[in-house]
Amino acid sequence: MESITINYKLSDIRVGAGLLSTITVPHRKVALVFDAALEQLHWPVLQRSLATGRTEVTSIKLPAGEASKNFSVFASVLSQLAQAGLTRDSAVVALGGGATSDLAGYVAASYLRGIDFYVVPTTLLAMVDASIGGKTGINLPEGKNLVGAFWQPKAVWADVKTLSTLPLAVLREGMAEAFKHGLIRRPELLEIILGQAWHGQSQGLGALVALAVAVKAEIVSNDPHEHGERAFLNYGHTLAHALEAITNHALPHGEAVGYGMHYAAHLGKQLGMVDVTHLTKAFLRHQQPLPLPALVFEDLAVFMGRDKKSNSGGLRFVLLGELAKPVLLRVEASEQLAAWHSFVADC
Ligand SMILES: NC(=O)c1ccc[n+]([C@@H]2O[C@H](COP(=O)([O-])OP(=O)(O)OC[C@H]3O[C@@H](n4cnc5c(N)ncnc54)[C@H](O)[C@@H]3O)[C@@H](O)[C@H]2O)c1
Ligand SMILES: [Zn+2]
Repeated sequence: MESITINYKLSDIRVGAGLLSTITVPHRKVALVFDAALEQLHWPVLQRSLATGRTEVTSIKLPAGEASKNFSVFASVLSQLAQAGLTRDSAVVALGGGATSDLAGYVAASYLRGIDFYVVPTTLLAMVDASIGGKTGINLPEGKNLVGAFWQPKAVWADVKTLSTLPLAVLREGMAEAFKHGLIRRPELLEIILGQAWHGQSQGLGALVALAVAVKAEIVSNDPHEHGERAFLNYGHTLAHALEAITNHALPHGEAVGYGMHYAAHLGKQLGMVDVTHLTKAFLRHQQPLPLPALVFEDLAVFMGRDKKSNSGGLRFVLLGELAKPVLLRVEASEQLAAWHSFVADC
């Protein structure tokens, strides 16, 4: 595939196959912050590519995945930037999944009160979701993503070739966010996702990533600080967050979102809105998540009540008025329960 550039107000996003070996930045010094799992895979190529010309590269290896999103790694990376002599006109480049870009972005936002930041996402979720929109941050023992900053990357380079080394389970998780983007804005994504086998070498991945990226880019450029339509990106996430919490994260995020979208579909159908349950069910069949644990809805409802979209008037859900036409709607507890029963019977 040729690479395509998605122009949007906040960052330049390029999607293509084989981009890694072409990436350069105009800075004299950069810190290349990368996930340890990529040391033998994609880091050497990007390292070489960045180091061409006059750029001096300091590579900083993070623990793989979520283990990097905490204060001790944050502090250690900041110290390494200082020791390497990075200045205000230096930059941070993140290579990895969403955990890496969240941590590295927060480092870039904090060092010398903010230096340039670039992202090279290597998971499907990071490409279509985490690297776009400028949310960065780390976890606390008290909860995920409790500390952070909005810090927009100058550019994002999504090289779909890097997905060929991704474990299948991680690819399947990211697919849930791409499918969500199809439901809320670009229905042609649904066919692309349901119509192909999911693996990292798939020919269709480039088109899929480009479309899904465009949806998030468009929504966050209209609403960078989450005052309005950015909330639509939470389709399926009210139940998903509750499922993750109640299972102590035994159910991974992407699988919880798969179930959450199917529940939202049942809720919408029951309220007389468009019926997309056949689509969300087909997605679950493709995704093959862990089985839904036996749960009492009232217990889940307690966790859903903690969702950010709840307000004093009751619990609000993102639902689909029509396909690709999301709305935010308050739903009575009795309706939530009835939809739960039809959802469970249809899983
Ligand atoms: N900032 C945002 O807007 C935003 C949005 C959604 C999610 N997130 C965050 O993103 C994180 C989840 O991101 P993720 O799903 O990318 O997980 P991740 O970064 O933990 O990566 C998942 C796993 O894949 C490995 N990996 C990454 N790229 C690989 C590759 N190309 N080949 C082989 N292995 C590879 C990693 O080592 C890790 O074990 C969470 O911390 C979440 O909070 C942020
Ligand atoms: Zn999500």
